Amino acid sequence: MLPAVAPRPRPTCLDSRAMKIGIIGLGYVGLPLAVAFAEADNEVVALDADQRKVESLERGESYIEDIPDAALAPLGERLQPTTRHADLASCEAVIICVPTPLTGSREPDLSYLLDAGAALAQVLQPNQLVVLESTTYPGTTRERLAPILEESGLSAGTDFQVAFSPERIDPGRTDYTVRTTPKLVGGLTEACSQRAHELYSLICDEVVVLSTPDTAELSKLLENIFRSVNIALVNELAQLCDRLAIDVWEVVDAASTKPFGFMRFEPGPGMGGHCLPIDPFYRAFKARQHDFYPEFIELAGKMNQAQPAFCTERIERALNDAGKPVKGSKIVLLGVSYKAGVGDTRESPALKIAAQLRDLGGDVSYHDPHVPSLPQLELSSVELDEALKDADAVAIVTAHPSLDYEQIASAAPLVIDFRGVTRGIEAGNLIHL
Ligand SMILES: NC(=O)c1ccc[n+]([C@@H]2O[C@H](COP(=O)([O-])OP(=O)(O)OC[C@H]3O[C@@H](n4cnc5c(N)ncnc54)[C@H](O)[C@@H]3O)[C@@H](O)[C@H]2O)c1
Repeated sequence: MLPAVAPRPRPTCLDSRAMKIGIIGLGYVGLPLAVAFAEADNEVVALDADQRKVESLERGESYIEDIPDAALAPLGERLQPTTRHADLASCEAVIICVPTPLTGSREPDLSYLLDAGAALAQVLQPNQLVVLESTTYPGTTRERLAPILEESGLSAGTDFQVAFSPERIDPGRTDYTVRTTPKLVGGLTEACSQRAHELYSLICDEVVVLSTPDTAELSKLLENIFRSVNIALVNELAQLCDRLAIDVWEVVDAASTKPFGFMRFEPGPGMGGHCLPIDPFYRAFKARQHDFYPEFIELAGKMNQAQPAFCTERIERALNDAGKPVKGSKIVLLGVSYKAGVGDTRESPALKIAAQLRDLGGDVSYHDPHVPSLPQLELSSVELDEALKDADAVAIVTAHPSLDYEQIASAAPLVIDFRGVTRGIEAGNLIHL
C-alpha cells in the first residue's frame, strides 16, 4: 500500500496553506474547479477518463469556453493532467465531478460515479478527503459512494473523510465566480465537514456547513427544481399570451418592476443542459422510493418537455401566414446550444425543434458560432450571410451575444424570435414568442 497522507494541522485564516488536490472528471464543472484550485497556488492532479481531454490540457489547450487557453498557461506544473488513478494517491483531497445523467427510462444513471468511486477505492489512502460534487439524489454519498470507497478496506468517516458539495457553476456567467458563490458542504461526520470546509475555503469566500451530505444533495436539487418550475410557469404564460395576443415579454417586464415577492424568469424555447431537464428526475426517483409523488416536479417537467413542440408549431404558423408550408421551406435555426455563450448542446430544445421541423419536411440548417457540428442531425453550422440569403424563415432559438440581430432582422424574410432579443426593432417580418 502507498504511504498514508499525513493529517494536517488546522489552518487559520492567516495560515491557509496550499494542498494537493485531485479532481476526477474535467468537464464543465471539474475543469474550472481544477483551474480555481491551481490559481490559488494548490497542486492539482486533474484526472479524466477521456485521453483527448488530458492531451488537450497537456498542450495548454482548453475545451471549455469559460477557461481560455491563457488561463492555463500560468498554472504550469500546478495543474497535472492525467488518466492514471495512482496519481491521486498522494492527494489530500479528491473531488469527483463526473456526469450523472438519466438512463433511457429516465432513471438516475450512477454508472460514471460508481466507476469513478471503484477506481478511486483502488488507490484510496488513510486520511484522504473525498468530496462528491456531481448532482444526485439524497443518500447517494452515504449509501452508494461511501460503501464503494470502503472496498479499499478503509472505513468512511474514520479512516478517510467523505462529503458532498454541490456545484453551483453557471457556464457563461461572469458576475458570480467560484470565489464569490457561497459553497455548501455536508460531511458524513463533523470532522468530514470540517475538512471539506477547509478545502473549499482555499477558493471560496464563504463556505456553508450543513448537517449531512443528504441535506446538501437535496439543497442542490431544490435550487434546480425551483428554476425548472419557474421556467415552466413562464413558458405556460407564453403559450397563454400567444392565445390572448398579449406580449409575454411586456407582462414579465411589468411584473419585474415589483421590488419584492417576484423573481424574473425568461420565457423561451424550453430548457436544456446537463442539469435542469435531468436533476428533477433524481429527486422524483428518490421520492417514489418513499411512496411520495412530487407533482410539481412532474408537471414542470411535462410543461418544459412540451415547449419545443409549441415553438415548432409557432414556426409552422408563421410560415403558413406567409403562404408557405413547412415542407420544402428552408428554415435556419440561430443558436443550437442550450444557452447563450456556450457550446453545450446537451438536452438543447433546438435539437427537438430541428427534428420536429424535419419530420414535417422542412429543410433545416443552423448557424451557431459555438457549435461547429451536430453529428446527431448530420448538420454543420452554415455561414450566416449565406444562410440568411436563401432562408424562408429564421428562428432565434439561442441568443448568442455575438450575433447582430438588427442585421439578421433586415436580411431574413421572416424571423421568429423565441428569446426576445429583437424586441425594440421595428420590422414587419418579426414574430416574438
Ligand atoms: N454543467 C453544469 O453547468 C453543471 C452545474 C452544476 C452541476 N453540474 C453537475 O456536475 C456533474 C458534472 O457535470 P459536467 O457538466 O461537468 O459534465 P461533463 O460531461 O462536462 O464532464 C464530466 C467529465 O467526466 C469525465 N468522466 C466520466 N466518467 C469518468 C470516470 N469514471 N473517471 C474519470 N473521468 C470521467 C468525462 O470524460 C467528462 O470529461 C454532473 O453531475 C452535473 O449534473 C453541472
